[in-house]
Amino acid sequence: MNFLFVNACMRGEDSRTLRLCRNYIEKFKKAKAGESWSFAEVDLDAADIEPLNRERLAHRDALARSRKWDDEEFALARQIIAADHILIGAPYWDLSFPSKLKVYLERCSVTGLTFIYSPEGIPHGQCRAQSLSYVTTAGSAIRDFNFGYEYVRGLCALFGIEKTFFASAEELDIIGKDVPAIMAAAEDKITAIIDSL
Ligand SMILES: Cc1cc2nc3c(=O)[nH]c(=O)nc-3n(C[C@H](O)[C@H](O)[C@H](O)COP(=O)(O)O)c2cc1C
Repeated sequence: MNFLFVNACMRGEDSRTLRLCRNYIEKFKKAKAGESWSFAEVDLDAADIEPLNRERLAHRDALARSRKWDDEEFALARQIIAADHILIGAPYWDLSFPSKLKVYLERCSVTGLTFIYSPEGIPHGQCRAQSLSYVTTAGSAIRDFNFGYEYVRGLCALFGIEKTFFASAEELDIIGKDVPAIMAAAEDKITAIIDSL
């Protein structure tokens, strides 16, 4: 079984989102100790990926037309399709997430590979994972502007991933807030997610 950690925590070791993700992975490993899981991480800060432009899109379309799905271009899409559980860790940036995560998701979202349209035009997601968790931290309260998670939730519906979970630590940059208590509450939420998997 494959666990895929998509790490969009751009501040490296200083990232509080990364701290929550490590807590998630540790708890997941403990909960699934009796099962055989392999763990892979996509470090988006280090990833050499560019947004699609005219040239790159034409290249990708040509590969897709000739169904060269084993090309390096589709490596990230193949990896997400083969994952059994996915964790996305991304700080709350500009009401969503760091743009490198969008570039990654653009890479993964391939018609004919990640999802296939039926003759009636209905997309059928090809991802093996039944669940994906999205972990974030935010400087203020996210309220109903949870665009990063909501976008990922929409993509999951397209990719065939049935369940999504969300854990956050919010208001971390507001002076006077009890940051350790907020982080501890997020860790409790993570425990509840792991228990429900
Ligand atoms: C580029 C950038 C954009 C941000 N945008 C928002 C925002 O829109 N709303 C918010 O509440 N906090 C925002 N923040 C604050 C972060 O969400 C907050 O500090 C978060 O905990 C950072 O996560 P990290 O510790 O994992 O890097 C932003 C921070 C950065 C660096």
